[in-house]
Amino acid sequence: MSEPLIKVEDLHITYGSQLAVRRGKGVRAVRGVSFELHAGKTLGLVGESGCGKSTLIRSLFGLSPIVSGAVHAFGEDITGVPARKRRRFGGRMQMVFQDPYSALDPRMTVHEIVAEPLRITGKYVRSEVEDLLDRVGVSAEMAQRRPGEFSGGQRQRVGIARALALNPQVLVLDEPVSALDVSIQAQILNLLDDLQREFDLAYLFVSHDLSVVRHVADDVVVMNTGEFVERGTIDEVFNHPQHPYTQTLLASIPHVEIV
Ligand SMILES: Nc1ncnc2c1ncn2[C@@H]1O[C@H](COP(=O)(O)OP(=O)(O)O)[C@@H](O)[C@H]1O
Ligand SMILES: [Mg+2]
Repeated sequence: MSEPLIKVEDLHITYGSQLAVRRGKGVRAVRGVSFELHAGKTLGLVGESGCGKSTLIRSLFGLSPIVSGAVHAFGEDITGVPARKRRRFGGRMQMVFQDPYSALDPRMTVHEIVAEPLRITGKYVRSEVEDLLDRVGVSAEMAQRRPGEFSGGQRQRVGIARALALNPQVLVLDEPVSALDVSIQAQILNLLDDLQREFDLAYLFVSHDLSVVRHVADDVVVMNTGEFVERGTIDEVFNHPQHPYTQTLLASIPHVEIV
């Protein structure tokens, strides 16, 4: 198998003051987690709210207090590299958020929002931004409006276009459809699926919703109170769950049909 794009090894993340952490008193949000993400693949990360999913993926961007373990990206050890020093990775890994509205500047037009990462890096080309917005289903006329006029689904299309602007290899998606109606969720998931094939993207797809992960992921890890309790292919985990926690999660979601 090819070298993974992302490799996380025995990662421990604890919130709290240095003193609290040293005394073992902090919030141990992530405890001994390891995983790899490969080109063109989707790894689903599932678990209930508060289990540490966001904490874990924010560590890929230098935004979580790592106590021990290692994060490698694109063959480099980036464990201790803070967020402000990440420029040199050139946007190869980008984040898509649950609520794009909080991530989109309400004063900017949608065109400006998608153009911003390109402007910052001196690579802005008007037609490229137009093509990108067209590709995610935002019309040229809509692109001149501000995000406040957009529905949740449209805003997420903008969030995805912005994340793709610098031509990343990896998208880290933190509950990207959790705020949307089910019919809109399906549209966004289909779009993500098309984009993945078109651009050979790797997705780290975070969701508390097992039925969503089942639709999008190749492999899945199940997280519970900071630890991975189960991992496998979608088929293995959904059809033959081994861990009692996974079995409970599956049983508690009536609209997941177990085939
Ligand atoms: N900035 C923070 N400071 C202190 N504790 C935090 C912080 N962010 C998250 N936590 C705690 O870490 C745990 C994991 O949270 P989070 O990673 O947001 O979970 P999830 O994304 O799975 O809902 C929770 O107990 C949460 O309260
Ligand atoms: Mg979260």
